[in-house]
Amino acid sequence: MFILTHVGYNRINIVPHGNRFLIGNGHLGYRGTLEEYQASESVALNIVGAYDRMGEKWRESLNAPNPFFVTLTVNNEYCDTLKKSPKNHIQRLDLKHGLFERETTFKNALIRSQRFVDKNHVENLAMKYEFTALISGQATLRAGIDHDVWDTNGPHLYETKVYMDKAISYVGVTNENQYLAVSAIIQTDFTDHPIIERKEGKLLKKFSLNVIAGQTYTATIFADVRFGNSSHVFEESEKGVLDYASKSYQKRLAEHKKTWNGLWKIADVKLKGDKDADFALRYSIYHLLTLSPTKYLTSIPARGLSGQTYKGAIFWDTEIFMLPFYHLTDPEIAKNLIRYRIKTLPGAKHKAQTFGYKGAFYAWESQETGEEACSLYNVSDAQTGKPIRTYFADKQIHISGDVALGIANTYERTQDFSLLLEGGLQVLLEVGKFYKSYATFDSQTKLYHLNDVIGPDEYHERVNDNAFTNYLAKHAAQLAVHYGHLVKRKEPKLFRAIMKKVGQKSLGGLSFFADHLYCPLPNENGIIEQFNGYFQKEDVRVETVRSRLKTANEYWGGALGVAVPTRVIKQADVVTLMVLFPDLFSNATKKANFHFYEPYTEHGSSLSACMYGLLACQI
Ligand code: BGC
Repeated sequence: MFILTHVGYNRINIVPHGNRFLIGNGHLGYRGTLEEYQASESVALNIVGAYDRMGEKWRESLNAPNPFFVTLTVNNEYCDTLKKSPKNHIQRLDLKHGLFERETTFKNALIRSQRFVDKNHVENLAMKYEFTALISGQATLRAGIDHDVWDTNGPHLYETKVYMDKAISYVGVTNENQYLAVSAIIQTDFTDHPIIERKEGKLLKKFSLNVIAGQTYTATIFADVRFGNSSHVFEESEKGVLDYASKSYQKRLAEHKKTWNGLWKIADVKLKGDKDADFALRYSIYHLLTLSPTKYLTSIPARGLSGQTYKGAIFWDTEIFMLPFYHLTDPEIAKNLIRYRIKTLPGAKHKAQTFGYKGAFYAWESQETGEEACSLYNVSDAQTGKPIRTYFADKQIHISGDVALGIANTYERTQDFSLLLEGGLQVLLEVGKFYKSYATFDSQTKLYHLNDVIGPDEYHERVNDNAFTNYLAKHAAQLAVHYGHLVKRKEPKLFRAIMKKVGQKSLGGLSFFADHLYCPLPNENGIIEQFNGYFQKEDVRVETVRSRLKTANEYWGGALGVAVPTRVIKQADVVTLMVLFPDLFSNATKKANFHFYEPYTEHGSSLSACMYGLLACQI
């Protein structure tokens, strides 16, 4: 099954359906909203790699003005779900072709629309909007650009110019002096002389036409979105939409579908015997296919292209949870994701320096330059609304190891040596250097420790020797040494140049660090302690901790969260370690840890159940 369908209309679905029926092409994402929706209904055309900061608010990804805004009246009666309850409503997401469709019946008209974000032309999107009159009379159709944009931490766009020529275009400038242009061309199959209307943050063409009951009228909209540091983005966007509209909607759609068909040929997985699981898996694959960046050197935000939640930032989610999919389906995409980390190495080095370390400390929340986007106060108190100091940015140091692992795995998959020469090895060495500078050395035991960190389980902040982090850091240092020797053997001159850049004379120091970094072993019951002192925490289960909440949205972690004094963890931690390094642990150890940690796991992140699932498969 490749179709997600929802029948019936209910306002409570407006926001969740925006996420569920999302379409995208790795550069642009368009939420599954209806044409008559506006900022208040969370319409968003989200752009990857374009960010802006408004005052002291969180820097976040940009939503572009919406070129697919359409409303209709027939005989002065609204055909608009926000103003009239429809008689019938159905919406669909065709996963096979990245296509959104709606069909809504009102008293005077039946509306059908279909749209896609073009997989072949990443700046373009197209929509066909048609209505069948159910009564003869007068219809008014308004279509165009809605530039009253929905933002979480905006506003981000200030109008600099609008153009009404062959296309209608809106150009805005951001708080950071970047330009965003959206152009649209509206073609209709009815002859009319539209009037230009500017009101309520919209740039519209108003078509008035006489309609005959039973006849269908079609408007096709082509759009182009550009972002850049000069106002010339307008010319690019106008030219872009003219080129794009030079082929018919059907032609563009056919080409788009062809590309999607090709992707599914490689990526589809069929599960026999469980229809729901089969669909859920395919639905996840659909999202990964909509997210793959093909043209620009960007990565994949944690919330995909669904809007500004999580600031459009890139987390460890990419390397640890998504990258394996691209290794198997499209290694070129995997390499691009790695190149994004290579490109953002200066940001990681800058962050390390800011926090007083050496090497590369990757941003917990990374944007286009790799500077840290995660605020030091990342959640707020549910009762008072006051910001709570969190330590994700300063202490979640496993991020650098996640990046290192991503590089090594991608190299192993693709055997593309240029990845190592063109920055990959440098990143590995800088990551090793970072961990070494972060660690404390106990001269009595001759062991390094990584103290004051946060592991994947974010509910326990500032812990010592988190098993996941230590094993990963050790492995990262080993990777730097291993690939260092490989490059040294194959390209001695380049190796020397890379070592010079990193300011290291030999690999000996990293090798010693890797050999002497403390990694906790399973105890007498086969359990690896999540961090030093975890076993001393209160032994209660998730339900008990949940029953202690005073408010529903209270944060379980931070300084005073309900999970902090207990063994209850947010997400797979030791279990993730075992999934990533299957050869380091026996099956009995995996089994013991799975059963030990699962009852303490809240699964408060979607990164949790999947890791338990993977370990279950290994077991
Ligand atoms: C999780 C992190 C994850 C982030 C983005 C958080 O809730 O705890 O592990 O990287 O969300 O998905």
